[in-house]
This record gives sequence, C-alpha cells and structure tokens, in this order.
Amino acid sequence: MAKRAPDINSILDAIEDSPEVREYRELQWEGSFNDYLKMVFDDPRIVRNAHQRVYDMILSHGSSEFTQFKERLVRYKFFGDPFTGGHEAIFGIEKQLMQLVSHFKSAAFQFGTEKRVLLLHGPVGSAKSTIARLLKRGLESYSRKEEGRLYTFGWRVKDEVTGADIIWSPMNEEPLKLVPKEARQKLIDQINEKSDLPYKLRVEGELDPLSRKIMNDLLAKYEGNWREVVEKHVVVKRLLISEKDRVGIGTFQPKDEKNQDATELTGDVNYRKIAFYGVDSDPRAFNFDGEFNVANRGIVEFIEVLKLDVAFLYDLLGASQEHSIKPKKFPQTDIDEVILGHTNEPEYKRLQSNELMEAFRDRTVKIDIPYNTVLDNEIKIYEKDFTKARVNKHIAPHTIEIAAMWAILTRLEDPKRGGLTLLQKLKLYNGKSVPGMTEDNIRELRAEAKNEGLQGISPRYIQDKISNAIVNYPAADTVNPFMLMNELEQGLKHHSLITSEDVKKRYRELLGVVRQEYEEIAKNEVQRAISADEEAIARLCSNYIDHVKAYTQRERVRNKYTGEMQEPDERFMRSIEEKIDVSESRKDDFRREIMNYIGALALEGKTFDYKTNERLHRALELKLFEDQKDSIKLTSLVSNVVDKETQAKIDVVKQRLIDRYGYNDTSATDLLNFVASIFARGDIKE
Ligand SMILES: Nc1ncnc2c1ncn2[C@@H]1O[C@H](COP(=O)(O)OP(=O)(O)OP(=O)(O)O)[C@@H](O)[C@H]1O
Ligand SMILES: [Mg+2]
Repeated sequence: MAKRAPDINSILDAIEDSPEVREYRELQWEGSFNDYLKMVFDDPRIVRNAHQRVYDMILSHGSSEFTQFKERLVRYKFFGDPFTGGHEAIFGIEKQLMQLVSHFKSAAFQFGTEKRVLLLHGPVGSAKSTIARLLKRGLESYSRKEEGRLYTFGWRVKDEVTGADIIWSPMNEEPLKLVPKEARQKLIDQINEKSDLPYKLRVEGELDPLSRKIMNDLLAKYEGNWREVVEKHVVVKRLLISEKDRVGIGTFQPKDEKNQDATELTGDVNYRKIAFYGVDSDPRAFNFDGEFNVANRGIVEFIEVLKLDVAFLYDLLGASQEHSIKPKKFPQTDIDEVILGHTNEPEYKRLQSNELMEAFRDRTVKIDIPYNTVLDNEIKIYEKDFTKARVNKHIAPHTIEIAAMWAILTRLEDPKRGGLTLLQKLKLYNGKSVPGMTEDNIRELRAEAKNEGLQGISPRYIQDKISNAIVNYPAADTVNPFMLMNELEQGLKHHSLITSEDVKKRYRELLGVVRQEYEEIAKNEVQRAISADEEAIARLCSNYIDHVKAYTQRERVRNKYTGEMQEPDERFMRSIEEKIDVSESRKDDFRREIMNYIGALALEGKTFDYKTNERLHRALELKLFEDQKDSIKLTSLVSNVVDKETQAKIDVVKQRLIDRYGYNDTSATDLLNFVASIFARGDIKE
C-alpha cells in the first residue's frame, strides 16, 4: 500500500520560511525611493562611501591586542581570513597590517588619504595579492550582511534596443545622488545628525552620464517635477558586491606595455547601440564597463601597477586625487572607490630614479609589506597549505620547520652585536630567550636592521620546494627534512630571481646552519624519546633522593641489590647534578633545597613528584639517556648488525616517537638511523 503523500503546500511553506530563503528575499530587496529614504534614516550606515565601508568591514571581524617586545600591537581577525576557513590567513607583519587599517581609518574620516592610491610594496611573494584578495572577499561578504548593505537604483524606462523594462545605473550609483546637489547636502546634514557614526557621511559628485541623461529627459517630460520623476520612474535595489559579476570590484593587470587600452579602464562604445542612437556621444550607446566603472562603490585593484603605461599612470593618479575618471566622449565622471595597487620591490627600484615616480610617490600611500621574520608564523604559512587532508604522504616532524627556518635566516641581517649568531637572532625574534638579551635589546636589533624582511627567500619558493619534495620521490611514503633541504639547495641553481653568486653562496651557507640545527633537534628528539620512560625516571629519582637524604643527614643507605648498608654514592649523585651544571661548590645547597622541599611536602601529607622540579627532571632525563644510550646500542644501527635484544629496545623508542612525537614508521626509522650515525661519528671522535 502506498504511503500517504505529504502535504506539498506545507513543505513549500517551510522552505519559503527557512533562513536561507528569507535571506535570499532580503538580498533581492527592491523598493521605491521613499522606502529607501526611510531605511537610510533608520540606518545611516547604508550611505557610507567605499573607504568607510572597507574600514568598518575590517573592524567588524573584531580584533585583539597583544604585546611584542614591550610594544602593544593589534591583531585584526579579518586578516586571519574568516572567508575560506583561514586558508588565506596572513601571519606576522601585524605592524604593517595596522598601518593598512589606519590608512582606511583616516580615509574614512576624510583626512586626505581617501585621495591617494594605496600602494602595497614589497618583495616578491610577500602576500600583497593575498591582502588584496582578502579585501575583495571581505567587501563581497560584508555587502551581503545587514550591517554592510548598500543600494543602487534603476529607471523604469524602456530600453529601446534591448526591450528591457528597467535601465539600471551602469555604475551602480548611490540612490541619494538622484537628489540635486544643494538639497542633497541638506538631506545628508539631517542624516548625519541622526547618525552615531564616528565620521561624517558624504554623498558627493554627479550621477553617471547615462543616469544624468535619463534624469534630464524625464525632468523635461514632467516639466521639472523632480518628485514625480522619482516616484514614477526610480526603483531602488540592494547592491551585492561581486568580483565574478563585475559589481563593485575591478581588477586591472597590464599585459604588455604597447597593448594597453584606455577602454579597459573607462569603458567603450557599444556599436550595436550606436547604430540605433546615431551618435557615439550618447551615453545610451556606451558601455560603462571599464574596471574603474565596475569598481564604483568598492575596490579597484591594479596588479603590478608600475607596469602601467605612463599615460594610464597619470589617469590613475587623477582618478584617486579627483575621484573622477574620463570615459571617451564624456565629461569627468565621479567615482567612489578604493584604489589599490601593488608592486614588488625590484619593479619599484627600477623606476625609482624616474621623474614620473616623483609624482607617483606624492600621490600614493605606500605601505611596505615585508616578509615575516618570526619562525612560528612562517611555519603556519606552510602548514595551512600542506595539511594532512591535502597531502597524501606523511610529512616528517620538523620538515616544514627547517624550511621555514632557512627562509627566515635568508631574510635577517647579521646582528652587529658581537657574539650573537644569526640563528640566535632568529630564536630571539621567535620569542625564545637567549642569555644576556633583554626585550629592549631585541627592539634595538630590529631597529638597526632596516632591510630585514625586504630581502631573502619568498614563501612561494618554499611552497614550491615543499611540493617538489612531495612529488619528486614517488616511491617514498614520507617526506623528510633531507629531501626538502635537497630540493631547497637544488632549486637555488636555477632560481630566476637570484642571479648573484654571492647571494647564492650565502643562502647555501645558511642551509648548512639549518642542517646543523636539525642535527641538534634530531638528537634532542631521540634523547627525549629514549628517556621518556617514566618508570625508569621515577626509579632513578627515588634512588637519587635516597642518596641525597643519606648524604644530608650523614647516614648510610641500603643498597637495593645487595641489601648492604653503604655510604651515599657521591659519583652517582654528581653524575646527575653535572647534567644541569650544578657545580661542586653549589651541590650542598642544591641537595639541601631538594630535601627541604620534600620535607615541606611531607608535612602537608604530600609526596614529591620530580615533574614539578623542571631542573631535576631534565637532569634525570639526561642521565637516563646517558645510561641507556649504551645499552640501547643505537650506534649498532649504523653497522646493520643488530641483535634481537637491542632491536627490541630500539623498537620501544621507535614506538614512542610514533605515539608521542608525530612520526610514522618510516620517519621514525630515518630519524633513529640519522641520530645513530651522529653518535657513531661522536664515538670515533672520542
Ligand atoms: N605573511 C604571510 N602570511 C601568510 N601567507 C603568506 C605571507 N607571506 C606570503 N604568504 C604566502 O605566500 C604566497 C605568495 O603570496 P602573494 O601571491 O600574495 O604574494 P605577492 O606579494 O602578491 O607576490 P608578487 O610580488 O610575486 O605578486 C601565498 O601563498 C601567500 O599565502
Ligand atoms: Mg602578487
């Protein structure tokens, strides 16, 4: 028997009432000019200009403060990429991003920077395009939210060529621009009175040429009755910024210098319509679809702006200074948009002596976007791309770290302070402490290194080499640090941007520094894995404490194996204390401190846990490692003759590497072999 059919109507009602569909309705909102005016008085934010909207958009994602080397900085969550789940997040360079935000702030307050081209300048691959992309994505998404909404209008006038019933403002103009200038100013004053925004709203300039013509024609038809024109013919709609649909976002990338055409920026004649209207100066026969036109109300981005033909560069400067552009055959046309350009360091340098550049520099706000110089941030840059979900291979621990380390070393300037190595400087910048260095010293270091971050290896190079290391060893299930270091080094040979042999040599040397540091890291890791045997450490600890107790109380201690009473074993105690540099003259104090501490705990009915004493813990670990190193016979791995018992011990360590330190079988085996070879080398030296 068939089940009873569901009530289709109630299903459709439910869909109609769902949040998505309701939002869809909101986004499709259309209404009269009167409706619009009411809305604007309810929420004056609607008429913000492009700079104000971008500024508020960035702030709308929230921010947090933090202190770095005694300096208070702000981190804007917007640059963490809330749009694609952090995939385009920017790491480090907080100070420069603060400058960027403060540019938008002063532009929102109309302190003058709204009349400048915003120029992102930096070395190749320093996230300039990524920042531009975030701004565009941000504005798209903001325009879809209640708090970020904006509107435009169209004319209920038949398009005689296409037959359409409504002719939309081709530059998506703000509807309040329909109000004649003086009356408009009064209106805006009233809106500003109602608004609690920190800056003043302004709606300036003339309508786009087509709207102006239609307005004038209609005013003539209705004998100058503006209200009748607007009520009968104007329809207002929500404007959704969208790069794909070429609404509110324009992008211009110069191809070759000879081939640049102004129509790409300011629009072109529509030949089909010209045939109908007869003259090419009729705005109805013009496509206002240049990048400047479509970007009205939003952002226009100039990729590699300095490759722009000189004539265009002046147009660009004019556009930002006057907020207007000049389409062929039409008077100056007002625009409201953020003009954003980027250029990389070599291109900027090339033009620096050029006379044009003086005019350019004067009319731009240049923000340097350097490379990041903090190791932990650099690691995050690569981790966001090479995640477990995206890479079908295991990436051994520290692989990305050492590549990031090298990248940062290439960007740093040698410290002028004697005795400080470049690697130590890297660690300082990364928030690690180096004996004798204070936060003030670090600030000095940063201040003296003017070029830091404007030079060196780009993240893009590292990203490429990580990819290579993944694909170039098809038989391997794992990428290890050596494969990557190999790629990094090989790639230098034909790096198109590094032509100087000296620089290449320096980068190779720095790779040597990284290799050495990796040895340290590897040794440490194995050491920790070997001594991560908590039972053994606890045993060692209680043994040590027994002896220390006997020593401080001048007693004898029972030998655990023979049961005999004996003198506390001085050599045994020292072998532990020496691991953490407790000197002969300090040993009594050290031992007494420990006993006092244990005594105090005992009074509270508590027992001592070595983990609460970091120094002692480390000393015990090192001692245990030393004892076990020989019994584990790691070095036998090198000779390839491993007896069963040794293999079993090594397997325990390997399993710990896998369970606790993120290794897989291959990478753990690689690591143990590598460290064994280091020890073997050491044995030979001894
Ligand atoms: N500070 C950073 N935080 C996060 N990712 C970064 C950072 N710097 C660079 N990248 C990454 O490096 C790559 C290159 O960035 P992008 O293309 O934005 O650089 P660009 O400055 O536009 O380079 P070019 O000058 O060559 O045009 C991107 O994958 C980007 O995510
Ligand atoms: Mg770029």
